[in-house]
Amino acid sequence: MVKKTMVDALLKNTAAAVEEKFCEVLPETNEGYSSVVEAMRYSFLGGGKRIRPALLLEFCKLFGGSEEEALPFAVALEMIHTYSLIHDDLPCMDNDDMRRGRPSCHKQFSEDIALLAGDALLTHAFTVSASSIADNDRKIKAIGVLSRNAGYSGMIGGQVIDLAIENTPCETETVREMYLLKTGELLSAACEIGAIIGGADDEKIKMARQYAFKVGLAFQIIDDILDNIGDEKLLGKPIGSDAKNNKTTFVSKYGIEECRSIAAKLSAEAKEILVELSGDNASLIAITDYLLNRKY
Ligand code: IPE
Ligand code: IPE
Ligand code: MG
Ligand code: MG
Ligand code: MG
Repeated sequence: MVKKTMVDALLKNTAAAVEEKFCEVLPETNEGYSSVVEAMRYSFLGGGKRIRPALLLEFCKLFGGSEEEALPFAVALEMIHTYSLIHDDLPCMDNDDMRRGRPSCHKQFSEDIALLAGDALLTHAFTVSASSIADNDRKIKAIGVLSRNAGYSGMIGGQVIDLAIENTPCETETVREMYLLKTGELLSAACEIGAIIGGADDEKIKMARQYAFKVGLAFQIIDDILDNIGDEKLLGKPIGSDAKNNKTTFVSKYGIEECRSIAAKLSAEAKEILVELSGDNASLIAITDYLLNRKY
């Protein structure tokens, strides 16, 4: 209970800091392109747990970095995550009408504006990262991780595999790889970038990535469970999306109960890495537990 309250407060503070900074780097405008800015702000400011920024800021703190240095990266990563959700919901992808408790970007605006809002969030993320006051070498390394993990061999690669195996039976190993890419890579960007900006050495950055992959796999498995038996109101997005699109998931392979125990085992392994990495960092342990037990 204490731990849950701790994570709730941490996520609330993270959301406030991230949203304030975002409004600073993307204010409303009356220019001719105001419609895309409106759509970017609508999707970004429309809720979300802000897990990736929270992990990024906590990893940075763990290695002695400041929030001021890390915040632009936390915002940039959440912008890239938001873009991935806007595109994920498009009719040519998962075709889902609700996101974060409101109409998806293409439903609220239009498909063309949603496409461009996603593109613009992605590109503007790099302006925002480059504005960090962090040491230049660390900043360049972090920007490299951000673009690589989000790109063709990272999150986008996972989305490509996700589409490729719709309606097609496939090996569990393929589903695992797809999860590590589409979900693990952006979570790993959070942990790696936080560690880099905080000043961690390469060995520690590697461990941050190992931790993130365990958490990322568990995170997507929980997402799949919630897609089957979650509360649509709490989730803020439609349940049954995976079945509607004939996705092969861990749930379709193993069933809910087995999935719960796979996720719990991954979470326990993630915590072991964390203890090795950080001693007994209470916030990161609590976030790891929260992610396993989340209902949305
Ligand atoms: C949803 O991510 C997409 C997945 C990778 C499963 P989140 O569950 O973090 O979504 P928000 O940001 O809280 O809306
Ligand atoms: C999302 O996977 C992964 C992304 C990179 C956006 P899902 O398609 O399962 O995510 P939700 O359930 O729509 O949030
Ligand atoms: Mg999808
Ligand atoms: Mg989806
Ligand atoms: Mg899902």
